[in-house]
Amino acid sequence: MSDAPTNQSWGGRFTESTDAFVAAFTASVGFDQRLYRQDIAGSIAHARMLARVGVLSEDDCAAIIAGLEAIRGEIERGELVWSVALEDVHMNIEARLTERIGDAGKRLHTGRSRNDQVATDLRLYLRDAIDAILAGLRSLLGGLAELAAREAGTIMPGFTHLQVAQPVTFGHHLLAWFEMLKRDYERLVDCRKRVNIMPLGAAALAGTPYPLDRPYTAQLLGFAAPSANSLDAVSDRDFAIEFTAAAAILMTHFSRIAEELVLWSSAQFAFIDLPDRFCTGSSIMPQKKNPDVPELVRGKTGRVNGHLVALLTLMKSQPLAYNKDNQEDKEPLFDTVDTVIGCLRAFSDMIPAIQPRREQMRQAARRGFATATDLADYLVRKGVPFRDAHEVVGKAVRLGVETGRDLAEMALSELQQFSPLIQDDVFAALALEGSVAARDVLGGTAPRRVQDAAAAAQGWLADLTGAAAP
Ligand code: ARG
Repeated sequence: MSDAPTNQSWGGRFTESTDAFVAAFTASVGFDQRLYRQDIAGSIAHARMLARVGVLSEDDCAAIIAGLEAIRGEIERGELVWSVALEDVHMNIEARLTERIGDAGKRLHTGRSRNDQVATDLRLYLRDAIDAILAGLRSLLGGLAELAAREAGTIMPGFTHLQVAQPVTFGHHLLAWFEMLKRDYERLVDCRKRVNIMPLGAAALAGTPYPLDRPYTAQLLGFAAPSANSLDAVSDRDFAIEFTAAAAILMTHFSRIAEELVLWSSAQFAFIDLPDRFCTGSSIMPQKKNPDVPELVRGKTGRVNGHLVALLTLMKSQPLAYNKDNQEDKEPLFDTVDTVIGCLRAFSDMIPAIQPRREQMRQAARRGFATATDLADYLVRKGVPFRDAHEVVGKAVRLGVETGRDLAEMALSELQQFSPLIQDDVFAALALEGSVAARDVLGGTAPRRVQDAAAAAQGWLADLTGAAAP
């Protein structure tokens, strides 16, 4: 690997092994080769701009572009042999270019440094990654909105403290997920604005004496603008931190959704069936159908949260401008992107395929005295102060617990023991349908509202796609 001369006695050997270790230790080509497409695109734009301002001849520019395109082909066909001695993707490609086209290849790096080059590559990479994630989110959100519209009238228990609280509709619950993920979508769209700024021209840290046309390079690469400060451009990775923070929040949402899918598909809840293709069996217990996919999504949240902490810690205490520390930004970022895209794919396939077990959900709402609040509200309508009504209903619930019955299963005379104001019309109030229909407030669970909310969700999505999202 190293060509260091060997010492007669021990020195050569020592130097050689140290060099080999340091070369391997400091090299990033093992993981940053993934940036080859962005690196080549950035170099082509830089060469075009250099030719336009007269720093590079048209012939050299043409040779560079043809050479880089040929190298892209070599990489894609697996023909390029990456060299650790050449440290990173940038120097590997540049060395190969010079090998192919001679001196013109050596002129490419005029007015540029690996410091602005790597920051540019990373921003181009992340911009594409965000676009892929946004596309995945749109598809998942579409599936969710459709399922929610279909289940707008399906009754299930709503929970607080994981105890049955009040009846809600399944569609309403699904639209809560929609809102969570919609905010994630908007966070990423916003983050993308700060990613889409071009560092090229900052060079090593101070700018460059060549008359670069930075807006032109930015335009060629689809960046919104060149960076405003060269020191900042090569050193900060806040755009990657911000993305990873948005990804960590998204994964936290995914994890909460996953947790509910795991609970709901258990025999104890039995609210849904997950199609077999998203589950696995046990090698010892024949009855098992394990919800592996949601469990893995839940588990993968940990690594993304970890990457966020890694990037924050990587950045803190770095003096301006570029430091080699920043080479450590790539692996956490790549893994964050891969993890989010994998989880998105799993959820986009799985969530529309959820099979609701409507009767089970309904029974669970019944068993948990989900309409106890409705009885209190009924008494309030008859003039009882809410606190007193709460007390009355508490006593009725205690009888229900003791006798294993829901309030709606008691005789009118039994209920009247607790308040003479209770009349025949109480059973309408205690019905699950009546309870959800009564929550007819903007943002509430009434099926009518859920239908409207599902339609609004679909409209929001349609506007995004119409407006060439993001
Ligand atoms: N591989 C390096 C990185 O990922 C490229 C920039 C190296 N710059 C330098 N001055 N050593 O950050």
